[in-house]
Amino acid sequence: MTRRGSTWLATIVAVMGSVSVDAKVTAPAGATVFRLDGAGVTYALGVDDKGYLEPLYWGPPLGTKDPLGTIDPARSGEPVLLKAPGELSGFDPAGSVTPQEYPGQGEGLVSEPGLKAVFADGNRDLVLKYRSHRVEGETLLVELADIHRPLTVVLRYAIDPETGVLARSATVRNGGDSPVRIDQIAAAVFTLSARDDYTLHYLTGRHAAEWQKKRIAVTPALTVLESRRGSTGHGNNPWFAIGRDGATDEDHGPVWYGALAWSGSFRISVGQDNLGRVRIAGGFNPYDFSWSLKPGETLDTPTFYAGYTDGGMGAASRAFHRFQMAHVIPHGDRAKLRPVLYNSWEATAFDVTERGQEALAEKAARIGVERFVVDDGWFGARDSDRAGLGDWTVNRTKFPDGLKPLIDKVKSLGMEFGLWVEPEMVNVDSDLYRAHPDWVLNFPGRPRTEGRNQLVLNLARSDVRDHVLNVLDRLVRDNDIAFLKWDYNRNWTEAGWPEMPLADQQRVHVAYVRNLYHILAELRRRHPSLEIEACSGGGGRIDLGILAYSDQVWTSDNTDPADRLMIQDGFTQAYAPAVMMAWVTDSPNWANTRVTSLDYRFLSAMQGGLGIGANLNHWQDADFATAAKWVAAYKTIRATVQRGRLYRIAPPSRDDGTSATMYVAADGRQGVLFQMLHSSMWRDNPSALHPQGLDPARLYRVRMLGDGALPEGMPRQASGAFWMNIGLCAPLKGDFVGAAFVFNAVD
Ligand code: GLA
Repeated sequence: MTRRGSTWLATIVAVMGSVSVDAKVTAPAGATVFRLDGAGVTYALGVDDKGYLEPLYWGPPLGTKDPLGTIDPARSGEPVLLKAPGELSGFDPAGSVTPQEYPGQGEGLVSEPGLKAVFADGNRDLVLKYRSHRVEGETLLVELADIHRPLTVVLRYAIDPETGVLARSATVRNGGDSPVRIDQIAAAVFTLSARDDYTLHYLTGRHAAEWQKKRIAVTPALTVLESRRGSTGHGNNPWFAIGRDGATDEDHGPVWYGALAWSGSFRISVGQDNLGRVRIAGGFNPYDFSWSLKPGETLDTPTFYAGYTDGGMGAASRAFHRFQMAHVIPHGDRAKLRPVLYNSWEATAFDVTERGQEALAEKAARIGVERFVVDDGWFGARDSDRAGLGDWTVNRTKFPDGLKPLIDKVKSLGMEFGLWVEPEMVNVDSDLYRAHPDWVLNFPGRPRTEGRNQLVLNLARSDVRDHVLNVLDRLVRDNDIAFLKWDYNRNWTEAGWPEMPLADQQRVHVAYVRNLYHILAELRRRHPSLEIEACSGGGGRIDLGILAYSDQVWTSDNTDPADRLMIQDGFTQAYAPAVMMAWVTDSPNWANTRVTSLDYRFLSAMQGGLGIGANLNHWQDADFATAAKWVAAYKTIRATVQRGRLYRIAPPSRDDGTSATMYVAADGRQGVLFQMLHSSMWRDNPSALHPQGLDPARLYRVRMLGDGALPEGMPRQASGAFWMNIGLCAPLKGDFVGAAFVFNAVD
């Protein structure tokens, strides 16, 4: 192993010689430093003279020749950048004060480890030091090794030149001849320099109330964002953002943010270490996890994506949205715009029949719907949520000739056909469960706790994985299905995998999710035009892992349009409006009985991908006319809403007041400002809303979306600078009303 010697320096010099000034992965000659630069972000790490790999810097760009590797002689030759002030005592061994980039659990480490392992002889001391590195394409790989045992970890780093978003992950390898038990493994550990004014932003909630924004001071009291549910869950989303109190707001200040691409139980911890530095660690949740790593075997973590901006929470989310659209969501920048869809769930629930769905399809087509989706209830003995899950054959009482007549009808009306499935689940009252009671997660002799009357199929088993894939493959092949809404409606209990040797049973947390990804990937490979919506009782499984296989997501089962504004505000902190679906449903809303106008419901739902879930059989002619108007209007702005940049001008709240969001096309040629009034008092005099993101020098003509007239006295045309500085406001009155201004560039 050569740490500061010529071997790795020579490699890096060679790398530098072969890349342009835009190089994203570099290591300046003469320093023991690895560096990633991109889009106004520098990330650096280096090897200290004891061989520890240390985080050096993460923030605004530094000069290419800046002394990142500066060594502090007073501190036993350690890099100075992340050094916290303060004196050390005998209570602070090196392992506890060195800010390691990816520490092993050993040598007195008192912060979260990157890796915690137990060797076959009982040794639990793991000390990881630098061994080697290489650059492959645009990825930096740094290999760490235990100081004595043949256990190695390869850390991977890449940076996106457009957004500065980093991708980090790790692979542990057992090079010995006995199994090593891995009890905890992080995808990455991030470090911020010591300060006492950091604030953590995170998203939490529950079924039908996901995506609530929370903030909390970062202190030595560790904050853990986690799921122990087997899937991402409605609780904490695997996303974080850290700003500085008083310095960071929507439009200003530093933000470090990130999200773990994993759809199973996860854990992200945030807290100050014993010297005040902030440590952010994220990976598989060690709760109920262990992996007996066999000789020669490797274990890969998911990817932890993370970024930095000095432009506040708004700039952070815009950069992250852009990154997701380009690099995570299927088809990248070539992804299709989300079609306007109709979904049957709130209209007909389990009572789906060929004639009933055809009648809805005819009405949906009249208002400009492009995709008609039959939700739950079309298969097996599925007349309620008590039976049928697992039996993915068409219910012949409801559809006597199969799905074909309905699909033909839907297509003849000019729409695509989509279908709801929940492939990972089984009702006890199903043919599948009667045939294979051993296919569910279970501990023999223990209760099998049901959630929504269903059990979880153990996708970690290869026979279950193959069965699910084959059933879906056949369903899509035998029917002209353009779209699957893929649901998942309970959390895990009794997560046993009894067929495995004892030491391997807790692999289930990882093996299940990997097989889920395998099925999704393989289904997409076999059916390249198939689109998939990720759903888990609404937004219970939305993360950058599932998004790699999902064209859109069902954001929440809460379809109340006012609640939805808050849900959308939370969702878009982390994830792109490009995938965020919302439906216009009936009023009063079934969930909270709130009464709202159809106009307001459309204006709320069209701030992402627009859907309609109302019972169209109850609509009057005027409703169809209103809906047709809004659907047509939406189609004139959807590219901007779905693929543009989102500016949160005024956040919605539970109380009264106006909220506003603005979407601007990437080329700056169109902007849309949604103004939504929750409730008002007589003679309220709202202040102007200031658009953002327009090109100041360009002329824009403004109109109201839909058929409304512009507010009296408002100019029709002015520069972006004018609109952004003077602002504008529709004179809204009453409760739950809205308006949208459209700015179109004038050539
Ligand atoms: C979940 C989904 C709903 C609907 C029902 C069907 O709750 O989130 O949209 O599909 O299941 O059972």
